[in-house]
Amino acid sequence: MRPGLQPFLLGVPLALWAAVLLSLDLRCQAVQAENVTVLEGGTAEISCRLQNYDGSIVVIQNPRRQTLFFNGTRALKDDRFQMVLFTPRLVRIALSNVSVLDEGGYFCQLYTDDTHHQVATLTVIVPPETPTVEVKTQAVEGGEVELTCHSPRSKPPATLRWMRDRREIPGVVSQQDNSKTVSVSNTIRIPVERRDNGAALSCEATHPSLGGQKKVRHYRLDVHFAPTVRIMPPPGILREGDSLSLVCSVTGNPLPRNPLWSRVNDTLPERTEISGTTLSIARLSQSHNGTYLCQAQNDYGRAADHYALLVYENVSVTPTALHTPNPSDFPAIPKDPGAVVETHSAVPYAVIGGVLALLVFAVICVLIVTVWCSVRQKGSYLTHEASGLDEHGDVQEAFLNGSDSREGKKEYLL
Ligand SMILES: *[C@@H]1O[C@H](CO)[C@@H](O)[C@H](O)[C@H]1NC(C)=O
Ligand SMILES: *[C@@H]1O[C@H](CO)[C@@H](O)[C@H](O)[C@H]1NC(C)=O
Ligand SMILES: *[C@@H]1O[C@H](CO)[C@@H](O)[C@H](O)[C@H]1NC(C)=O
Ligand SMILES: *[C@@H]1O[C@H](CO)[C@@H](O)[C@H](O)[C@H]1NC(C)=O
Ligand SMILES: *[C@@H]1O[C@H](CO)[C@@H](O)[C@H](O)[C@H]1NC(C)=O
Ligand SMILES: *[C@@H]1O[C@H](CO)[C@@H](O)[C@H](O)[C@H]1NC(C)=O
Repeated sequence: MRPGLQPFLLGVPLALWAAVLLSLDLRCQAVQAENVTVLEGGTAEISCRLQNYDGSIVVIQNPRRQTLFFNGTRALKDDRFQMVLFTPRLVRIALSNVSVLDEGGYFCQLYTDDTHHQVATLTVIVPPETPTVEVKTQAVEGGEVELTCHSPRSKPPATLRWMRDRREIPGVVSQQDNSKTVSVSNTIRIPVERRDNGAALSCEATHPSLGGQKKVRHYRLDVHFAPTVRIMPPPGILREGDSLSLVCSVTGNPLPRNPLWSRVNDTLPERTEISGTTLSIARLSQSHNGTYLCQAQNDYGRAADHYALLVYENVSVTPTALHTPNPSDFPAIPKDPGAVVETHSAVPYAVIGGVLALLVFAVICVLIVTVWCSVRQKGSYLTHEASGLDEHGDVQEAFLNGSDSREGKKEYLL
């Protein structure tokens, strides 16, 4: 090919075609349709652009080629279709409450010229609902649970993902076409232990129509397991006359109703009260010695715990001696340094408070001995000062009662 010919060959046909198209454009009417995408239930606007409209009849037909509008007049009885606009440049109809059955090509055509039709394709999108979760097999510890997440209707198909702690659990995905929409499900099987009870899982549906949003169904694992039972023993030693309160702590799923209390080889004492998980005996006696059992059961097993009750002899206690020694109660020196003081209180050493009181008392004793030594050294001066403390008699008595000796022996402060 000669170099000079190329621009000639290209230039002439282009100019020619431009002229032909321009003349067609001037001469002929034409329609142009636009594709539409709409969410189910929404409103679709179908537009037909007109060129060089000269008053010909404009016909709009549905995908089944039924005429919807004949030059602006409704032809099909379907109130969902409305003529929105009819100008020499644009014909626009609206279809409300769109269903998937409305999908397809809508024809815009000039009645005079069947060859000049255009098709607007209507696409209906069906966003998924929040998926549902179905438990296929009940979760029992040591076993597996099968969970199915289900999204019954979407178009195009939704994507379902199982998540736990922000990690995806891979599952088996299946899809089923139901006339225009798709049902999607994702099934997982996971091993479960007791500690998984209450664990949070979620199934997330994503879909183009939701943008970045997700429709999430939360699910908490319900892992069934056999009960455990533990008796919380009371602290310290129990004596006659004390009251006993045993709490039986029970776990299990389903949680056993109320635990069953019993006494090994014997019946429960008469004064026993059982309320919920607690067994109480108001005034203990040594006849209550024995082994107490707490038992619980559910469909997955049974469990028991026992408590051996030993009631010790009581120590005689004089009610007046039940003061708790408190350093601030005491004057530094007894009223009469020569007095003989009998002490007769018992320190309940089994009780923590008693131990503390004993410690405090020991400190006070040391203080008194120290002060007493100084009294012996400067006798007359202190005797005089002590007489000014008469008004504190009560407090002194409290102190004297507190200055115990466990065997009840007499203690002389001189
Ligand atoms: C409209 O949709 C149809 C079918 O999906 C497609 O063939 C056509 O190219 C689309 N037209 C436009 C202008 O996008
Ligand atoms: C069709 O409708 C348009 C707009 O209302 C009108 O101008 C035109 O005359 C009509 N054509 C016929 C043939 O009735
Ligand atoms: C929309 O259409 C559905 C059936 O496709 C119908 O059940 C529903 O009542 C309609 N809603 C309205 C507001 O017309
Ligand atoms: C209960 O009685 C049985 C048989 O008499 C005996 O073997 C067992 O040690 C007893 N248990 C208790 C806790 O006393
Ligand atoms: C109860 O247990 C205490 C402490 O072991 C013991 O001293 C006492 O003898 C027992 N009493 C009876 C009735 O078994
Ligand atoms: C235990 O002490 C109470 C008084 O605190 C007394 O009435 C009771 O008889 C005593 N019980 C025994 C078994 O000594």
